[in-house]
Amino acid sequence: MKKIPEHVAIIMDGNGRWAEAKGLPRVSGHKEGLSAVRRVVKAAKVYGVRYLTLYSFSTENWKRPPDEVKFLFMLMESTLTKEMEDLHSRNIRVRFAGKLDKLPEKLQQIIADTEKLTEENSGLNLTFAVNYGGRQEIIDAIKKIIKARYPIKHLDQDNFRQFLYCPQLPDVDLVIRTAGEQRLSNFLVWQSIYAEFYFTRTLWPDFSEKDFKMAMDEFSRRKRRFGGL
Ligand code: FPP
Repeated sequence: MKKIPEHVAIIMDGNGRWAEAKGLPRVSGHKEGLSAVRRVVKAAKVYGVRYLTLYSFSTENWKRPPDEVKFLFMLMESTLTKEMEDLHSRNIRVRFAGKLDKLPEKLQQIIADTEKLTEENSGLNLTFAVNYGGRQEIIDAIKKIIKARYPIKHLDQDNFRQFLYCPQLPDVDLVIRTAGEQRLSNFLVWQSIYAEFYFTRTLWPDFSEKDFKMAMDEFSRRKRRFGGL
């Protein structure tokens, strides 16, 4: 029996470079990136991965040209509107992690509808990190703790989790990052302290079932000690 990561988190990098290499506008790389999203959602099920979290828009991505930001939100809106029923019929539970109240109102509504529609589903746990930053998540958690007047002397690493954006997410076992960059970029900072990392030069729109399999195979060979011997 091969070791399977329970929680896989992916930094989907390289959409812009994919498009530029083909002489296309950057945004067509994001559009094509969606096919890779569909492929990994299928692959996660095949391998028995329980949690799949996809970095879709970071708190730093606001620095991009306004047109690109607008396009990304529109792409999310139209995709979720078209595909939420399909995700639901496949028993997928969809969640969103991030500072969602800063997103366009229409997108916030579709996010709420998608979460509600799929909240009883027991299959794959699919989370989109949107307007997500790991440091921001920790700061937002601290604000919730203060607001709740939580007794500080009882606070520990286990019960801190309930104040994160998605308390149900377990720690990340495997972080995959595409397009050759080797850094965490403010993704799931609290949850990734003992994650294994898998880097590939493949650009996100080209990420295939075969790439997913290579990441799974590599993970199964890693020896994890979590600070022990
Ligand atoms: C990184 O490539 C990719 C993104 C910032 C966006 C990824 C988002 C999607 C694929 C859409 C997610 C969909 C839903 C439904 C939430 P980049 O632009 O940084 O590429 P580059 O480094 O080559 O410029």
